[in-house]
Amino acid sequence: MVLAGLTAMSLAACGDAGSGGSGGSGGSGGSGGGDAITMGFAQVGAESGWRTANTKSVQDAAKSAGVTLKFSDAQQKQENQIKAIRSYIQQRVDVIAFSPVVESGWDTVLKEAKDANIPVILTDRAVDSADTSLYKTFLGSDFVEEGRKAGQWLVEEYQDGSETVNIVELQGTTGSAPANDRKAGFQEIIQADPKFKIIASQTGDFTRAKGKEVMEAFLKAHPDIDVLYAHNDDMGLGAIEAIEGAGKVPGQDIKIITVDAVRDGMQALADGKINFIVECSPLLGPQLMDLAKKVVAGQQVPARVVTEETTFTQEQAKQVLSTRQY
Ligand code: AHR
Repeated sequence: MVLAGLTAMSLAACGDAGSGGSGGSGGSGGSGGGDAITMGFAQVGAESGWRTANTKSVQDAAKSAGVTLKFSDAQQKQENQIKAIRSYIQQRVDVIAFSPVVESGWDTVLKEAKDANIPVILTDRAVDSADTSLYKTFLGSDFVEEGRKAGQWLVEEYQDGSETVNIVELQGTTGSAPANDRKAGFQEIIQADPKFKIIASQTGDFTRAKGKEVMEAFLKAHPDIDVLYAHNDDMGLGAIEAIEGAGKVPGQDIKIITVDAVRDGMQALADGKINFIVECSPLLGPQLMDLAKKVVAGQQVPARVVTEETTFTQEQAKQVLSTRQY
């Protein structure tokens, strides 16, 4: 009984944590009537600058759109996200949106939402469920393409040489869509030329601290690293500290490619410590609210909405840094 009580309390706390919405009187429980709706949003965590910007975008957009937002932070744990989604189902929100920590293991909870007639929108990250009727749409980046862009820059950078290029890779959270896809896209491009060799690849969990720790280990084991490919800016920034700690010059002794283009990453790019950044936009809030309203109103939405993104060289970073929103 004590355990059941505690579980119920943690579900309630999870569902209400950080509720950032305002406006509207909706959320009366899956009614979908009128403009005022309640969204339950199950966020991955607060692991990176990208995630912080994404959370702000969702909370700000909910406010502007008059959507009542119930927000939860899963601290990068799938079980927390599943609890939050179940709590939103119990609360009869109008729509559930979430950014899945990992790709697998969602079918059961998504079926529960479907059985309760609560539409689900995937945002930022995908799930690998074969049954695509379990969610209405998926809004987010093409992570494979991001990996390809990283690989294409590398191929161009080394087009004139024939010597081996030793690459180390800092992967994102194991099992997450961006880690899987950014790895695959990068590999697809570099494998065309055998001079590119990934000599070490390990997760840094998308955090600065882990990026530093893993890069320190890479540097100890491999004195001959030419390139670091980090699946996000934060891990790249942690790795820069490790590289400098080892007496090497980031951006010169070791070339660095990252993904995201958050302000700290762009600053390091402008400073010459990173060589190339592939953009991944966290500003998904306005599109998410738009899709949510349509879905709740029973309107058709595209099954996939891909975010528009670019890439940045060091020169381009210097030009746009002062106007960067996040
Ligand atoms: O899912 C998007 C990724 O998650 C971002 O690239 C990374 O910074 C974040 O943690």
